[in-house]
Amino acid sequence: MVGAAGMLGRAVVAEFEAEHEVMTATRKGDEVAYGIDLTDARSVRGVVLRAAPELIVNCAAYTAVDACETDLESAFAVNAIGPKNLALAAAAIDATLFHVSTDYVFDGTKVGAYIEYDRPNPTSIYGQSKFAGEEEVRRHAGRYYIGRVQWLYGPGGRNFADTILRLADEKPSLRVVDDQFGCPTSTLDAARQIRLLVEEGDPGLYHMSARGRTSWHGFARALLDAAGRSDYRIEPCATVEFPRPAPRPANSELRNLNLELTIGDSMPPWEDALVPYLERRNA
Ligand SMILES: NC(=O)c1ccc[n+]([C@@H]2O[C@H](COP(=O)([O-])OP(=O)(O)OC[C@H]3O[C@@H](n4cnc5c(N)ncnc54)[C@H](OP(=O)(O)O)[C@@H]3O)[C@@H](O)[C@H]2O)c1
Repeated sequence: MVGAAGMLGRAVVAEFEAEHEVMTATRKGDEVAYGIDLTDARSVRGVVLRAAPELIVNCAAYTAVDACETDLESAFAVNAIGPKNLALAAAAIDATLFHVSTDYVFDGTKVGAYIEYDRPNPTSIYGQSKFAGEEEVRRHAGRYYIGRVQWLYGPGGRNFADTILRLADEKPSLRVVDDQFGCPTSTLDAARQIRLLVEEGDPGLYHMSARGRTSWHGFARALLDAAGRSDYRIEPCATVEFPRPAPRPANSELRNLNLELTIGDSMPPWEDALVPYLERRNA
């Protein structure tokens, strides 16, 4: 498990630990985790050869979307060369690679949900580097899965849900964009879907989004309602009011077509994940 200290990585480790032997790799490394630098082919190959796993799940990435715009080298080093290094190392020992990707590979202009067979057209450096990572995995891995997720939130990570809950404690009201659409996806659900895919599904490209669609404003409203804060004021606003370095796709909705057509789509409606998230966060 590479990127085991990240938000999704932690959930994946917990999900697999119940039934599988899990070895972890983090950038820093410690007594229990291998130290790995994805950008360094020798580091990656060394760890993979020593650990000799059957399956490598890659949740590591350079995820600071805005920072990628001014740090193109790091973005492509981690998000494109990193997966290439992992794919080559995995192929050398006949291990399966599960690589996590993103809705940012799309430009967000489609009317309706994106399926796996829609043509990517990333508009940000982050999206371009993640799409390049997918291509490297396709080119160099033997047996691989690519799982695209979106709007991730979960316990133990910096994410939109956590930010909204914190800001609602600090400010009298909030303004949240209401013209970007997608589907909030819990890391707990994404991690379960990764396990089900490698246990039951054939290799390939999969969208792994929770079901449904909302805006960031809709997500924030539902989250605060679920947290018992229905009286808290959140005003809708437009993306242009919060200019950011990296363009955001206006429509990020992903349809899990390949899951539907194969092992079945067991991702829940996004609203169902709010209370379990709040319970874990408050525990
Ligand atoms: N968060 C979202 O909303 C979202 C949406 C769509 C797709 N995704 C994708 O989902 C995956 C997981 O995202 P996340 O939100 O869980 O990310 P995260 O919390 O930012 O974790 C990423 C991890 O990658 C590690 N990392 C960065 N550079 C590395 C390197 N050179 N070598 C080894 N490890 C390195 C980081 O280590 P340090 O802590 O040491 O920096 C961090 O632990 C990523 O592929 C991301 O692109 C995320």
